[in-house]
Amino acid sequence: MSIFRLAVVSCLSGVAVLAAPDPSKVTFNKDVLPILQKNCQSCHRPGEVAPMSLLSYSDARPWAKSIKAAVVTRKMPPWMAEQNVGHFKNDRTLSTEDIATLTAWADNGALEGDAKDKPAALTFQDGWNIKPDIIVEMPKPFQIPATGTVNYKYVLVKTNFTQDMWISSAEMRPGNPKVLHHGKVWVRPPGSHWLENAEPGEAYENETQREIIGRNGAEEGNDILGKFNPGLGAQSFDINGSAKFVPKGSDLVFELHYTTNGQPTQDASKIGLVLAKNPPLTRYYFNAGPTASNLAIPPGDGNAEVVSEVTLAQEAKLVYAQPHMHLRGKDFELRLVFPTGETQTVLKAKWDFEWQVGYELAKPIDMPKGTRMIGISHFDNSANNRFNPDPAKEVVWGPQNWDEMSNCFIGVIIPTDTKPESVFKRSGPSLLPRGHSGPTLAALEAAKRNE
Ligand code: HEC
Repeated sequence: MSIFRLAVVSCLSGVAVLAAPDPSKVTFNKDVLPILQKNCQSCHRPGEVAPMSLLSYSDARPWAKSIKAAVVTRKMPPWMAEQNVGHFKNDRTLSTEDIATLTAWADNGALEGDAKDKPAALTFQDGWNIKPDIIVEMPKPFQIPATGTVNYKYVLVKTNFTQDMWISSAEMRPGNPKVLHHGKVWVRPPGSHWLENAEPGEAYENETQREIIGRNGAEEGNDILGKFNPGLGAQSFDINGSAKFVPKGSDLVFELHYTTNGQPTQDASKIGLVLAKNPPLTRYYFNAGPTASNLAIPPGDGNAEVVSEVTLAQEAKLVYAQPHMHLRGKDFELRLVFPTGETQTVLKAKWDFEWQVGYELAKPIDMPKGTRMIGISHFDNSANNRFNPDPAKEVVWGPQNWDEMSNCFIGVIIPTDTKPESVFKRSGPSLLPRGHSGPTLAALEAAKRNE
């Protein structure tokens, strides 16, 4: 038996040796550059979010050791989802072979190699990744100070859209990518009360101007049209013939999270839209799903659980999930409970406030009416969390970074005649009154027993 096992092991390692290049012969031009082109240069090039370029040998050479450290620890490329749960189109995970190649390069003198082995340089589009039919820009730039924290800003933009439109793809572009950390553009359909008292073009914040901003509740019918995250590019809404609906008379709301970078500067972000070429078969709708507005996180708790839930009042297909928490967030799980009682974990991901990663499902998941979507998150409200603004505080839901949130933005495909605001109904733990912790799965079970 032991001989047999030995044989299998040596045979496997033989295969591995054949597949990976000889470590001492690994060169930048032949082995490393193709990996950087495919996985890193979207962010690591001049003008993009990352602090250094990895386009050429001279750019990358000084970073060889840090590249090894960053890929071995899986800090880079940034991707938070657990490997064995769910499949995602936009998965950035490096293969173990690629990690081995980058490691071998760094450990063996980071050689340049022969110029004739070098793949052609990638050409990057300067500007749009789509060919927009319509571009909407903030009417005036927002002034960003040199230092300090800038709260989330909301800018109402009047569009004068005179007809109903179906959109097949969108791309939000910062005016200044050095200071726009991430952002969203929302459709505000006619009749929505959100920001109805706002002066178009002015930037408002929840912290001091809540009465002007008002509530962005699901009942308002608002819909996320496009978003910007570092390295995200354009978003397609065409999944087997679906498109996003923008009713005539809609306005747009730009939601902007700026970071300061040492110099006063300004930004006017914009969004480009591509009109659907064919009548849509289904509608792509994107809004907050499970939301824990009743959350309470005890002071000092290093692993506080918070559970939230919505039930589908209409059938829908799940195509996208983007958890959202603030500085105390640790991890997030999205679980489906089908009407049959079967459960499926769609996503399990570490949380990192800096990245706000969204997950594009490799295959849409059918969710019949009555399916429950459950969000389970954990928070570190202890002094061990270096981002924690105040471990002594009991934290509740709120818009500021020092408050918390636990929700998950959800992209679904629905029939074109379904009213989007009727899709998600709060249920289960999200209906419990706020206590001093949770709501937790255990508290929910207890509440059920007492019913
Ligand atoms: C989505 C954008 C993005 C992608 C893709 C990306 N990076 Fe980064 N990278 C960043 C940003 C932003 C930083 C600086 C902030 C940070 O360290 O988190 C960074 C930092 C780094 C650092 C410095 C780490 C440190 O500890 O100081 C290294 C090394 C690095 N990246 C290597 C890579 C490599 C190698 C790849 C591809 C295999 C890659 N990155 C892919 C955005 C990206």
